[in-house]
Amino acid sequence: EKGTYPHYMLKEIDEQPAVMRKIIQAYQNEQGQLTIHNDIISAVNESDRIYIVAAGTSYHAGLVGKQFIENIANVPVEVHIASEFVYNMPLLTKKPLFIFISQSGETADSRAVLVKVKEMGYPTLTITNVPGSTLSREADFTLLLHAGPEIAVASSKAYTAQLAVLAILAEVTAKSQNINVNFDLIHELGIIASAMEALCDSKELFEHISREFLSVTRNAFFIGRGVDYYVCLEGALKLKEISYIQAEGFAGGELKHGTIALIEEGTPVIALATQESVNLSIRGNVKEVAARGANTCIISMKGLNMDEDSFVIPEVHELLTPLISVIPMQLIAYYAALHRDCDVDKPRNLAKSVTVE
Ligand code: F6R
Repeated sequence: EKGTYPHYMLKEIDEQPAVMRKIIQAYQNEQGQLTIHNDIISAVNESDRIYIVAAGTSYHAGLVGKQFIENIANVPVEVHIASEFVYNMPLLTKKPLFIFISQSGETADSRAVLVKVKEMGYPTLTITNVPGSTLSREADFTLLLHAGPEIAVASSKAYTAQLAVLAILAEVTAKSQNINVNFDLIHELGIIASAMEALCDSKELFEHISREFLSVTRNAFFIGRGVDYYVCLEGALKLKEISYIQAEGFAGGELKHGTIALIEEGTPVIALATQESVNLSIRGNVKEVAARGANTCIISMKGLNMDEDSFVIPEVHELLTPLISVIPMQLIAYYAALHRDCDVDKPRNLAKSVTVE
C-alpha cells in the first residue's frame, strides 16, 4: 500500500498537496463557492464562544484554528487539551459551541469531554478524518478531513487537512455574517497546494538540514512567535515522537525567562520566521541563542528572508503559513528518525489511536 515509499509517513507527507485539492473540491458548491451545511454555520453563529477540545497534533491544529476563526470570522475561541478539560473545566459562556478535532475520531480523552458537554446540553461538532468514528457518531455535527487513511503513527496530512477545514469553517462563517474577507480562500488554498509540492520536492535539503543540526544531538529547540510558535509546538512533537530527541517548541520571547539556560555550545535551535510583524524580534531571539553557542537554523518565508537563512518557504497568505511551514518540520523530523535508525511509522510506546483515558 505504501508503494515505492519506504515509510507511510513519507507517503503521507507527500500526499498533502493532493489532500488540499480534495478538500477544496469537497467543500465547494456548484457555484464554485466554499460551503458548509447550514445547520453547522447556524450553530456557530448562535454561539457566543467556541471551545475547541483536542489532543496532541490535533490540539496544535486547534491553536492555529483559533487564529483563523478569530481573525476571519470574529468569533472568540478557546482551545483546550482534552485530558485537562475533564477535571479542570473553564467557566463557560452562556452559549458555547464545542468543536472536537480528532484525526481518528476515537480519542478517549476527547470523547470523555464530548459525553460530559452533551449531558450539559451544549451543541457539538467533530472535525475528523474517519466517517462513522465514535466522535463523529456522538456529536451533533461532523466535518470530514478527506485526507484518506493515515497509517503512520505520527500525524502529518491530517494536521494540514484540519487547518484547511478550520480555515473553511472560518471563511464560510464570516461570509454568512457579511463580514468582509479580504482574500479568496479557494485561490489561497490552491497556492498552498503548489507551495506544498515545492516543499515536498526539496527533500534533500531537509535531509541535509536534519543531518547538520540533529544527527548527534540530545535535544533541540524550535522557536517562533504568533502562529509560528504553534507550528514549533507541532515540530517539536514530531521530532520527539519519531526520533526520540528531546525537543521543545517555544515562544521566542519566553526563552529569556528561563529556558535559555539550557542553551550550550552546539544546541540546535530551529526558528520559524513567516510573520512580518515579528520577523525582527524572532531574529533577535536567534541572535541571543547564537551568542550562547546555539547551532541556529532559520526557516523563513519568501519576502521576509535574509542571507543567513537555511531555507526559504514560498510566499503564501500570512495567516495561512502554518499549512506549509509545518512541512519542513515534518520532513526534518522524518530524516532525523531515519538517521537514527528509528522505526518511523511505529515509534515506541505509541499507538495510532489512543482509546484509553
Ligand atoms: C502526533 C499524534 C498524536 C495524535 C493524538 C490525537 O503525531 O499522532 O499526538 O494527534 O493522539 O489523535 P486524534 O487526532 O486521532 O484524536
